[in-house]
Amino acid sequence: MSDISMTRVRLTTAGGPDVLRVETHPVPTPAPGTVLIRTEAAGVAFNDVTTRQGLNPGRLPEVLGFDVVGRVVEVGPGVEGFSEGQRVGALVGTGGYATHVVAPVDRVAPLPEGPDAAVLDALMLNYLTARQMFHHVAKPRAGQAVLVLGAAGGVGSALSQIARAAGVAVYGTSSRARRDRVESHGATWVADASAVPTPVAATFDAVGGPSLATSRRATAEDGVVVSYGFSFASGAGHSRSGALVRTAAAIARAKLTPGPRLVLHTVESAVAKDVAGFRADVAALTGQLAAGEIAPEVTTLPLAEASEAHRRLENREVAGKLVLIP
Ligand SMILES: NC(=O)c1ccc[n+]([C@@H]2O[C@H](COP(=O)([O-])OP(=O)(O)OC[C@H]3O[C@@H](n4cnc5c(N)ncnc54)[C@H](OP(=O)(O)O)[C@@H]3O)[C@@H](O)[C@H]2O)c1
Repeated sequence: MSDISMTRVRLTTAGGPDVLRVETHPVPTPAPGTVLIRTEAAGVAFNDVTTRQGLNPGRLPEVLGFDVVGRVVEVGPGVEGFSEGQRVGALVGTGGYATHVVAPVDRVAPLPEGPDAAVLDALMLNYLTARQMFHHVAKPRAGQAVLVLGAAGGVGSALSQIARAAGVAVYGTSSRARRDRVESHGATWVADASAVPTPVAATFDAVGGPSLATSRRATAEDGVVVSYGFSFASGAGHSRSGALVRTAAAIARAKLTPGPRLVLHTVESAVAKDVAGFRADVAALTGQLAAGEIAPEVTTLPLAEASEAHRRLENREVAGKLVLIP
């Protein structure tokens, strides 16, 4: 029999981790072009934290949660290529912290049966973002070196593993306490971007704002800085408008100053531009997982502990990908 009620974690207002409340809700019916997924694993993204803090542009969603892994339980009208019972991953953007999630079919990719759901979930956002930036944007050649800021984190550790599998050397930054984690992913730890011995072919920068200028100085003139986040704003006491102004000013300065190219990357726009490419990237990543070329580090917590998950992520206590299990 189909489920009629589901558990979800609602974002009641912008604020601290305690604004997340567990509640029951009727299971939605999938609209045309969507599928209903019963969740096996729901990722907690850094973006969820800045949304909860009220730092992101746009309206607050009812339910946070960018990425999920689960099984299709109902296919909406007009959907082809997916069937009930099939294991899938979805990049829903919002709504993931729930036992049931409706996903537009062009944000859904097939997944294999074998691997652990939380490990597959790490592929859906962190590794996919890393793969797009590494293989489709920066495209460093084997034998070159790159710099990864926050290399102990979810996307940072994914970038290090993907680079190593491609024969590219990695310098990685982190807070001093997490140096061994950076090194465990095959990177050479550096205290900050200024400590890189020679300019790198590409720098992957999730800190943003004032960090972009330092990243460009660490990068070769003909190289590229890929900017994909603004972690600097979290915990620094900036208002939303203050963070946006600092972000925009740093991007404008980097675009106007001679030196390496600056590219802004978001996983969402890359997926929207090329749905077949998105599914091919997910398939390539599951292949690398099976071959042992990548090994996501995951931490799991029960769905009902979403507030605790946010507390840990905000306090920089999480290594790898944090995943909620319903
Ligand atoms: N553009 C996209 O499509 C996309 C997709 C996914 C993620 N992202 C962004 O990528 C970033 C990383 O995400 P994630 O899931 O990998 O997060 P994560 O696991 O929390 O890793 C972030 C890393 O950044 C460092 N960090 C945290 N706060 C910082 C701060 N205020 N200043 C400098 N460094 C800080 C931390 O390293 P240490 O504490 O060791 O220094 C941490 O390891 C986030 O900004 C997220 O929004 C963007």
